[in-house]
Amino acid sequence: MRPTTQRPRAGTCRLRWLLFACVLACASAQAALPHERVPLDTGWRFHRGEAPGPDPQLDYDVRPEAGDHADGQDADARPTEARRAEAGERRVLKPWILPSGNALIADPARRHVRPDGDPGSDHPFVQAGFDDRGWQAVTLPHDWAIAGPFIEDGPHGGMGRLPSWGVGWYRRALEVDAADLGRRHYLDVDGAMSYATVWLNGRLVGGWPYGYSSWRLDLTPYLVAGRNQLAIRLDNPPASARWYPGGGLYRNVWLTRTAPVHVGHWGTFVTTPEVSAERAVVALDVAVDNVGDVPADIEVRTALHALDADGRPEAAVVARIAPAWLRIAPGASATARGRVAIAHPRLWGPPPTQAPHRYVAVTTLHRDGATIDRVETAFGIRALRFAPDGLYVNGERIVIRGVNNHHDLGALGAAFDRRAAQRQLEILREMGANAIRTAHNPPDPQLLELADRMGLLVVDEIFDAWERKKTPLDFHLVFPDWHEPDLRAMLRRDRNHPSIVMWGVGNEVGEQYTGEAGAAIARRLRDIVAEEDPTRPAAASMNWAKPDSPFAAVFEVIHLNYQGEGIRQSPEFEGTDRIRTPPQYPAFRAAFPGRPIFSSETASALSSRGVYLFPVSPAISGPVREGRGGDAARRQVSAYELHAADFGASADHVFAQLDRHPYVGGEFVWTGFDYLGEPTPYYASRSSYSGIVDLAGFPKDRYWLYRSRWRPDLPTVHVLPHWTWPGREGQVTPVHVFTSGDEAELFVDGISQGRKRKGAFEYRLRWDDVVYRPGELRVQAYRAGRPWAETRVRTAGPAAALDATPDRTRIAADGRDLAFIAVQVRDAAGEPVPEAADRIRFRVEGAAELVATDNGDPTDMTPFPSAERRAFSGKALAIVRALPGGGGDIVVHAEADGLRPARVVVRAEAPTEGAAP
Ligand code: GAL
Repeated sequence: MRPTTQRPRAGTCRLRWLLFACVLACASAQAALPHERVPLDTGWRFHRGEAPGPDPQLDYDVRPEAGDHADGQDADARPTEARRAEAGERRVLKPWILPSGNALIADPARRHVRPDGDPGSDHPFVQAGFDDRGWQAVTLPHDWAIAGPFIEDGPHGGMGRLPSWGVGWYRRALEVDAADLGRRHYLDVDGAMSYATVWLNGRLVGGWPYGYSSWRLDLTPYLVAGRNQLAIRLDNPPASARWYPGGGLYRNVWLTRTAPVHVGHWGTFVTTPEVSAERAVVALDVAVDNVGDVPADIEVRTALHALDADGRPEAAVVARIAPAWLRIAPGASATARGRVAIAHPRLWGPPPTQAPHRYVAVTTLHRDGATIDRVETAFGIRALRFAPDGLYVNGERIVIRGVNNHHDLGALGAAFDRRAAQRQLEILREMGANAIRTAHNPPDPQLLELADRMGLLVVDEIFDAWERKKTPLDFHLVFPDWHEPDLRAMLRRDRNHPSIVMWGVGNEVGEQYTGEAGAAIARRLRDIVAEEDPTRPAAASMNWAKPDSPFAAVFEVIHLNYQGEGIRQSPEFEGTDRIRTPPQYPAFRAAFPGRPIFSSETASALSSRGVYLFPVSPAISGPVREGRGGDAARRQVSAYELHAADFGASADHVFAQLDRHPYVGGEFVWTGFDYLGEPTPYYASRSSYSGIVDLAGFPKDRYWLYRSRWRPDLPTVHVLPHWTWPGREGQVTPVHVFTSGDEAELFVDGISQGRKRKGAFEYRLRWDDVVYRPGELRVQAYRAGRPWAETRVRTAGPAAALDATPDRTRIAADGRDLAFIAVQVRDAAGEPVPEAADRIRFRVEGAAELVATDNGDPTDMTPFPSAERRAFSGKALAIVRALPGGGGDIVVHAEADGLRPARVVVRAEAPTEGAAP
């Protein structure tokens, strides 16, 4: 142990703080726990828009300039001096909100002083007496835009055609016992989209602009005994994002109650400076804040427990960190630094070669014999090392088989849902993915906890823009004031997660192009990372990757977007004036021989699940063009999986370049799942085409291409296209096969079309001359000469029946858990009907609600909550939530005109005792 301060001394103020401790002990005797974290998910009222009547003129200071509009790219939206002056008359909130970031600004001279006054205190919506019964009752997390309707006209494709921008208000009562007034009351917000301002009892408390950050406000000075009125105003600028941001209190909100002396916000930091199979050293810093008005002598104790697979602490104490004593002056903070050795630790590491074992540090604060605080910090024991050939976890080289994922959860929108996120990760893990890049913002904290449990590696990324904007009203507007609080907030919140291996501080930022000035900002962000977490590197992804640029030199770990494999390499770009860039791996290797290189974005391959367009390119990778991979009238891209964004490449091309440059540490595919917004190449659509898995969670064909490579030991064989082509009889219809075998033989109606073997740098087997006639395709794959896997696909008859399958047959009746019901249209013989587009009506019986439906079609403008959904490429999805406390059978019916209906039963069960983190 390294005690940071001495034991308490008797002093003149001893009596005073003994008395105080007694008061505190009485207060905590009434309160059940020394540290309470109460979810504020129910009891909210919501109003979209401002108050009726005259413009209340509450603004941060971000307003669209004349000429700016959603999706506009060019107008300069920086606040001008004139606007600032004008804003003076407008009750600009910014100076009152800036101090909310003070705890995360290192230099005291840069912290903000709250001006006098209380803007908004006369606004009707913040008044305790305001009658909000006419407002909508909502439960958090809540995304105000996801229900639509879709905005079919106008330039809104980038942001998903959903009405996310504008103002929204939330109100909620907080009851506080008089006995609790001596405690601190904090509002902890996991994420609010965006420009939040918070009032309590009509007084402005503070707020936070960046919608993806988690933040804390101290409510204590504004509290009264009894009923307190909380009011939160959110203001989403238009044209603030290149994708769908969502809107509202879209993550959890908590009320945290503590004693005046308590573990600081995100105040624990666990590291594992020594790790081996025999022994590990666990180091723990505990920052303790004293916001009381007398000095405090505090004993800090920590016990370490193993967590079981369900996240519950095992009873046995694995080790104790020797107690530390802190003397903390009023208004001050102090840090206890301890460490302890553990024999034969259970290490955290990525499956399948390692297992994600976790521990929890249970820290308690003691004052005069009373326990005044208790916090749990889950962590993993693991050693990270970066070498010129990538990442080593516990001494084993782990090649990154990763995907980029956006924060939205498809039809559920931005409102975070643990089960929906878990389902995404399970589908990706089944494919063999071992890593996620949180493009391009900090995720809900529960996503990181899921990654910890599942052993996924994470690049936790924070910004898509620094000072140079990408859209008129994006983060660049607040970057100068807020980059430090936002970045430190992410680092402190997330640094105990073993899943996180690197910090992403920027994605394709404009500062790549601004020479030394851009590099200076990059260095500042890199240095903040090093201050908060010296154990992991920072990186910024480059799509303008010049090894001799000042920007490229800043980061010890190199993140390349697309440039690694080279951009515009396909034959279609021969002779065009589009700039072609050969693979940049060798140039970076030569310039920075000691630095690891990762492809932080690869592919950006585009396709629509189950849509096959002809003719089929003989090449292995090409851009989407009309009649060559693309169909602009239908706004669909061919699922032969040969086409990509102009700067991207097919999976096959990326694999070849990775295999030709084996020192590269791995890739993050753009993207794992389709996401709302950015529907390249058809901006009239609502959602992307880049996912390996569609928006509804149905895998596209390339899912099996990745699984074949990423899970080589799993017998995989997949054939495409489907084989139901009325009207194509007699026409050439190429057949492609993805397999983890090395050879395969294709049979058409039992007749061999030849046995083919993958050559060097080949990842698919293709029979491009097959002539279609109704019947059967059968593929026998081989590995090392032996049969390995087999698949077949038959011509389907007319649609006759629906078939429904739940992702799980038992869910928790906790008001949150979800069942995902996948529906497949089949013919009379049970074959899937591949192009079926029947209208399916969903109906739910039992203690459950139908939350949303989807089909993965980027062009479908039916609002997500609709109970009726057209099948797309034969499939549709219903998302059903069990009501709290209900329990019993949930019966989901799927019906369509002329088809045999389907019915599934999902059992809702009383939730099991909550598992620890
Ligand atoms: C990248 C960018 C991503 C996404 C992608 C689309 O350049 O970093 O955020 O826009 O292109 O293909």
